[in-house]
Amino acid sequence: MQVPNFSLNGKIALLTGASRGIGEAIATAFAQQGAHCVLTSRKIEGLKEAAARIAALGCSVEVRACHGGNLQEIDDLVEDIGKRFGRIDILVNNAATNPYAGPLLGATEAAWDKTFDVNVKGVFFLTQKVVPFMPRGGSIINIASIEGERPGLDRAIYSMTKAAVISMTKAFSKELASCGIRANAILPGLVATQMSRSLMQDSAAYQEAVQLIPLRRPAQPEEISGTALYLASSASSFTTGAMIVVDGGVLA
Ligand SMILES: NC(=O)c1ccc[n+]([C@@H]2O[C@H](COP(=O)([O-])OP(=O)(O)OC[C@H]3O[C@@H](n4cnc5c(N)ncnc54)[C@H](OP(=O)(O)O)[C@@H]3O)[C@@H](O)[C@H]2O)c1
Repeated sequence: MQVPNFSLNGKIALLTGASRGIGEAIATAFAQQGAHCVLTSRKIEGLKEAAARIAALGCSVEVRACHGGNLQEIDDLVEDIGKRFGRIDILVNNAATNPYAGPLLGATEAAWDKTFDVNVKGVFFLTQKVVPFMPRGGSIINIASIEGERPGLDRAIYSMTKAAVISMTKAFSKELASCGIRANAILPGLVATQMSRSLMQDSAAYQEAVQLIPLRRPAQPEEISGTALYLASSASSFTTGAMIVVDGGVLA
């Protein structure tokens, strides 16, 4: 019997939103398992800092700025990476935005468009562009949220985009199964990153949020990366269309 293999030796991984937080943690785990990681986000300075931290571990990494809601930039990114390496083995759709906090009744069209452009449209078209470069055994990992299952109060537009990511992941998993490509999503609960900073810094809101988490704390970004490594590697070769909840027990 074969022992599960978590190695990513020789794999090319493209990760969005990888300049900090969950994306950087996943890139670090992949690079430490032997993948060459292409980190993307909007701002090149943050990307270079993350790449320096990963390279300091003796790992292989490069950076490329790309706005997740800009289809031309997405095309250029995939064209460059796909042609240069000839393949993209792993895609992590991690970048997301949440520009509007407030009631649905006060939401503007601009907030709707920005949230859906980055969190849904960009994820869809990046995936569509990458798949032709993905060999059999390829893995698509979408970072959704438990709020895609249970909308957050005052974060409902963001939550709706995450519900769309969950549905999109299942749809891609069915369509791509015959090509030997798997698509799965991770649904994190509260994770201590810049995205959750305003909540973490508001002590009353933080206490309230933590009371809803059976483990009574937020996750650190590294606690999401193990699940991503599983999904990227051949250890998960029979896992596709799965929604893996990593939330300290909230949805239990
Ligand atoms: N933190 C949580 O509690 C939590 C919970 C559930 C799910 N998630 C999900 O986890 C993923 C990562 O979030 P995080 O908490 O790690 O957030 P984060 O620390 O704020 O990092 C967000 C990353 O996305 C990039 N980004 C933001 N807007 C972008 C855009 N328009 N185009 C391209 N890149 C963009 C940022 O870099 P630039 O600024 O350089 O673009 C950064 O690298 C997201 O999908 C989020 O929805 C987070």
